[in-house]
Amino acid sequence: MDGNGRWAEKKGKIRVFGHQAGVKSVRRCVSYASQNGIKALTLFAFSSENWKRPQSEVSTLMELFFTVLSREVKKLHKNNICLRIIGDLSAFSARLQEKIHQAELLTKDNTGLVLNIAANYGGRWQIAHAAQQLCQQVQQGTLTVADINEQNLDKQLKDLPLSDVDLMIRTGGEQRISNFLLWQLAYAELYFTDTLWPDFDEASFAKALASFGNRERRFGHTSAQVQAKQG
Ligand code: IPE
Ligand code: MG
Repeated sequence: MDGNGRWAEKKGKIRVFGHQAGVKSVRRCVSYASQNGIKALTLFAFSSENWKRPQSEVSTLMELFFTVLSREVKKLHKNNICLRIIGDLSAFSARLQEKIHQAELLTKDNTGLVLNIAANYGGRWQIAHAAQQLCQQVQQGTLTVADINEQNLDKQLKDLPLSDVDLMIRTGGEQRISNFLLWQLAYAELYFTDTLWPDFDEASFAKALASFGNRERRFGHTSAQVQAKQG
């Protein structure tokens, strides 16, 4: 979700105004995903590098995160959405951590859209964290060194309700991954748009999905193989 700051600056407003508008866009996209049969939506809200921003912007973002969680969680629950926050939550205030915990607890058995919010998240952090957990199992004797392979690392990462990503959308014009879901993006289709996040609406989402629908996903196979399989 990139481009909130620029969206606000273009309107002669302060950056925070853009983040507030970004929340509206989140609401719109969550509801679109939920109503259109998307199984999981992961939103990159705050990266582990975003702490480098001016202190005032960081604290506003934290405050916004807290109020949005408080305000929206009942509605998410009503819509059968399962909310998960992924990232290193230990850096957040106790108050925010508690709010996150309550929200996850309330919605954990919901069977609709899985909504992952990546907060203080970094793809490298997540892989390192999973590796650490596997090493602990080796230390405890429940796993051998040879078991530290792709399959087990993948399984460890999937302890979080995250699986391979089909489509990654980045708004705001930059064409990079910025330490998002590095492991899970291995075979994702990438979609970049100049649209700034607060302007990303249902039509923009539909356009991204249409582009995804036109891709041929070969996963290493040849085009002929894929077509033969599709019959
Ligand atoms: C994305 O918008 C939102 C967050 C990272 C919280 P930006 O804040 O990165 O907006 P730009 O890129 O400065 O326009
Ligand atoms: Mg940005």
